Amino acid sequence: MSISRLQCIACKKTYDPRQARFRCDCGDLLAVEHDLEQLAAAYPDLRATFEGRLGSLATPDASGVWRYRELILPDLPAEAIVSLPEGNTPLYRRAAVQRFLGLDEVYIKHEGENPTLSFKDRGMTAGVSWANHLGARIVACASTGDTSAAMACYAAAAEIPAAVLLPHEKVSLEQLAQPICYGARVLALETDFDGCMRVVKELTADGGVYLLNSMNPFRIEGQKAIGVEAVHQLGWQAPDWFVIPVGNAGNISALGKGLSELRQLGLIDRLPRVAGVQVTAADPLYRSYTEGFARRISVTARPTVASAIRIGDPVSFDKARAVVQKLGGVVTECTDADALEAMAAVDAAGVHVCPNSAVAVAGARRLRAEGTIKPDERVVIIATAHGGKFSHTSLDYHTGETGEHRNPPVTLAPTLEAVRAALGL
Ligand code: F0G
Repeated sequence: MSISRLQCIACKKTYDPRQARFRCDCGDLLAVEHDLEQLAAAYPDLRATFEGRLGSLATPDASGVWRYRELILPDLPAEAIVSLPEGNTPLYRRAAVQRFLGLDEVYIKHEGENPTLSFKDRGMTAGVSWANHLGARIVACASTGDTSAAMACYAAAAEIPAAVLLPHEKVSLEQLAQPICYGARVLALETDFDGCMRVVKELTADGGVYLLNSMNPFRIEGQKAIGVEAVHQLGWQAPDWFVIPVGNAGNISALGKGLSELRQLGLIDRLPRVAGVQVTAADPLYRSYTEGFARRISVTARPTVASAIRIGDPVSFDKARAVVQKLGGVVTECTDADALEAMAAVDAAGVHVCPNSAVAVAGARRLRAEGTIKPDERVVIIATAHGGKFSHTSLDYHTGETGEHRNPPVTLAPTLEAVRAALGL
């Protein structure tokens, strides 16, 4: 008997999870819902099961997603799993970062240390494994850069043809190179991300092309593993806060869903709070939050250094709102300038994060300054991608005029005197 079903988040209508369907007949989003009572009865000691897989080098046990497979996709046959492996990302604690934020205990969960350098690998191993299980003939996504890199990589591993729709000249060069190198068909559409999303929804509407955006609820199941792995690393203790950047709002939805399930299963004894952070150039969830979520808001997203979250109409808006409400959460925002300073501060502590991740760091700083986060609260900040994917942003910052943490390279004559003088020796 199967443990999971596809269910509409609004009207609660259920569907067979083997259908390639991404919307309810009523038009709302679908979620993969697990029968947690059945799950608890089938696997009475989940912690021991997870611990037992820790030392393994064999995929999928070595994966920081499939180690928790009973919580992710319990009905997926093991032979369908496509894993690199992914996950097992560090929690970095750095005194300099704590000083920058004015907090005693902060961890950066660095999802940029995944195989394609972003958190998307977690959702994608689940999404591509499910596509593989269903026998999908071609997969597609719209992307601000990281989803397409991850999808192209996993599709290549599974030998499934892949097509990515990118907003023309709105992703970094490193992000653009990834799906090209992995052999996906790369289509640069002369629009923004929201425009690409509209086209890919139409392309995949009849299920012939399998959609791998986070609107696909199987992706959300894999993405849940960030929060599961973080609390596991903290000895199954929930921190006081998770702080996370928000674009299309899949990641915050997944985080909240996973944490709620852990609480329901008794794997953690309290729920943490969640802070979603947007950039001012693309802040529909924040604007709606400031109105008490009275209405859903969309904006035309403007250019920003946080190009991966330049999204004006987040697909998972309703799921994210529910998570913020359920977890006593907050939504805040930061400027590009704040994000760049936060990025440079974390980078200089030896943890190289991307500008989108830095939005979460800047948000944590603001929430501390405003008193929402208390100095002695334990905080986990999710860094979503590696700084190496956005080297132009770092170089522009460090060679620019204004950065507080700027560290420009120096060009010199090739002499000992010049080098000694430059080092102040
Ligand atoms: N950080 C990075 C580095 C991202 O690539 C994204 C989303 C986010 C944060 C926001 O996560 O959308 O789940 O709220 N990137 C998507 C993409 C949209 O196409 O790569 P979200």
